[in-house]
Amino acid sequence: MSILELRDAHRTHGRGETEVHALKGVTLTVNAGELVAVMGPSGSGKSTLLNLAGGLDRPSKGEVAIDGTLLGDCGKRELAALRRRRVGYVFQDLNLLASLTAAENVALPLELDGTSPRQARGQARTALSEVDLEGHGERFPDELSGGQQQRVAIARALVGDRRLVLADEPTCRRS
Ligand SMILES: Nc1ncnc2c1ncn2[C@@H]1O[C@H](COP(=O)(O)OP(=O)(O)OP(=O)(O)O)[C@@H](O)[C@H]1O
Ligand SMILES: [Mg+2]
Repeated sequence: MSILELRDAHRTHGRGETEVHALKGVTLTVNAGELVAVMGPSGSGKSTLLNLAGGLDRPSKGEVAIDGTLLGDCGKRELAALRRRRVGYVFQDLNLLASLTAAENVALPLELDGTSPRQARGQARTALSEVDLEGHGERFPDELSGGQQQRVAIARALVGDRRLVLADEPTCRRS
């Protein structure tokens, strides 16, 4: 079964004179284990596409399905749970919480989903070591380099039982 499916997905931003038709009928299937790179110039709609693929945004027209679940049929709670459990997202601006340590940032999606703090901490440690950050879990984001912060964000997207990991320019980080 496909992990991600977009069918004739459109997304329009704004209205009237400032309306931008960012996506015009994207159809895309991604199967388990597949790695897909979306390329295009600035403003061409890559983030818009990823936001739809991760259920962070809804299409103006068309359909998106993650792991066989049609997002248009999901209520708010169901969609939030699907995003927490199945989708890992590395944001263009990382979005690490400054008041949490690296390990706490990585453990957060699991804890929000009801995993015990102890178990979440163990899985966070494993995810951090997968991105070569063992021993850095107790540091706060501002005590890490730009690339290390980026890897914390990647660990947070990989932790737990993710079916789909979406990364918006994860290697294009300043400093
Ligand atoms: N919230 C918004 N309101 C209005 N227009 C928007 C909004 N978000 C994106 N756009 C417009 O939609 C188009 C696609 O933007 P998007 O952010 O998806 O591009 P991108 O390919 O990710 O660009 P970049 O490489 O610079 O990150 C652009 O023309 C942008 O100005
Ligand atoms: Mg973008």
